[in-house]
Amino acid sequence: MEWTREARYQRLAEVSKDVYQKLVTQVADSPYRQKFHVQPKTGLLNDPNGFSFYKGRYHLFYQWFPLGPVHGVKYWYHMSSENLVDWQDEGIALEPDSFYDSHGVFSGSGLVVEDQLHLFYTGNTRTDDWVRIPYQCHAIMDASGNIVKADSPLISDSPAGFTDNFRDPKVFEYQGHYLALIGAETSEHRGKVVYYKSDNLKDWEYQGIIGTKPYPNAGFMWECPDYFEQDGQGVLLFSPQGMQAEGDRFQNIFQSGYLLGAPIDFQTGQFDHGAFQELDKGFDFYAPQTMQDPLGRRLLVGWLGLPGVDCVTDDDGWAHCLTLPRELVIENNHLYQRPIPELKALRKAHHSYSGDLHEETIDLQDISRTYELKLKVTAEELEHFALTLRKGHGEETVFSYDHHAGKLELDLRKSGKTVTAEYGRTRSCDFQAEYLELHLFLDESSLEIFVNDGHEVFTSRLFSHQDANGIQLTSKGKASYVLDLWEV
Ligand code: FRU
Repeated sequence: MEWTREARYQRLAEVSKDVYQKLVTQVADSPYRQKFHVQPKTGLLNDPNGFSFYKGRYHLFYQWFPLGPVHGVKYWYHMSSENLVDWQDEGIALEPDSFYDSHGVFSGSGLVVEDQLHLFYTGNTRTDDWVRIPYQCHAIMDASGNIVKADSPLISDSPAGFTDNFRDPKVFEYQGHYLALIGAETSEHRGKVVYYKSDNLKDWEYQGIIGTKPYPNAGFMWECPDYFEQDGQGVLLFSPQGMQAEGDRFQNIFQSGYLLGAPIDFQTGQFDHGAFQELDKGFDFYAPQTMQDPLGRRLLVGWLGLPGVDCVTDDDGWAHCLTLPRELVIENNHLYQRPIPELKALRKAHHSYSGDLHEETIDLQDISRTYELKLKVTAEELEHFALTLRKGHGEETVFSYDHHAGKLELDLRKSGKTVTAEYGRTRSCDFQAEYLELHLFLDESSLEIFVNDGHEVFTSRLFSHQDANGIQLTSKGKASYVLDLWEV
């Protein structure tokens, strides 16, 4: 079907139950449906929103266009969970039904204050001449899950010197006040994060720009800002658009990363930080959001997808999913991302293997299509090691470490279907270690690989053939391995 503007701005309520039910059935029949990732029942999912813990449950919302795999008029869809593993469907949370969000309930955050979950989002609107006016908006959820829009809009339009790309409020409490970070594009087309201050969550005062260091390749728009402090350091996360590739880095259409430094001085906006680092080295990761949970952990969920590109499942009426939750930990000036221990609840049958390899390849029996895998490789001198997954039917997905080159690489050249070949089919990053420890989660159509305790992460969709299930280990130079696999 052709996605005209009319079709993209059609509301769910405007189509018959029958039409919607057909879409649900079509999507359910897709061979690429995930088993343990949050995915949309129909249509397109993008950013995680409002990630929070309220009344004994984790709450996670996401950007949703119900009627097809395109970026149409967005809703917030709501999921909740006790353990971050089993997600309960809570239905639509926010609809684009007000003058300040008529063309989309865009991304934002959640904050629990005095027994209520406050939701902050950008209301996307368009004039008759299709000029965009962004509003920053507010809604409140109570203990019984009722959500009411309140006091909206909080902030009307963008300040002088900024374009209409002004969105994605991240609200948090800081030293006795509330702060809202907002992603912005200056009139000179530079990406920035700006911030507002409030004492009552209703009245917001513009404070200025977060003073990051000038960097020529910083992009024109910084989406989905987020900020937290840990062990006396500050981390500013955002998803810049318009960066150019630099060697192995920034190979995806858009990036997502962070600046790590001293805590931001919110009196002046001053931020003293190191270089921009990509959060994830894989093909499909964007617009992550973090929250601090009651255990004091800093948790992150990202969109396992990217804007501006098609998805293999578009033909099946749906697109994209969310990543598994990860814990963020700063150690030795590096941001580690680790899969949360709760994910062990997914484990079913366990298989373990170990042995030595020398200039050879071994095949493990075909076990299961979806699994969690942990692999530790040690060697006196580790030269080159490769783990091949989803092997069969002429396909393979290869993750390797080359000690001499000092590189990790994910190679999807033969991994099955793709619609984004123009962005390349390999991703690499610099890496040096004396051993290799991989922890990965393979769902029906996604792969998340955590390397050496989350020092690096590679996250990608994977659309492999039903008969491609083999696992292979290959080593140049003598190496020992221990492999644990849990069917999921
Ligand atoms: C990021 C983004 C946000 C925006 C939302 C709209 O993917 O473009 O900046 O709020 O998606 O769906």
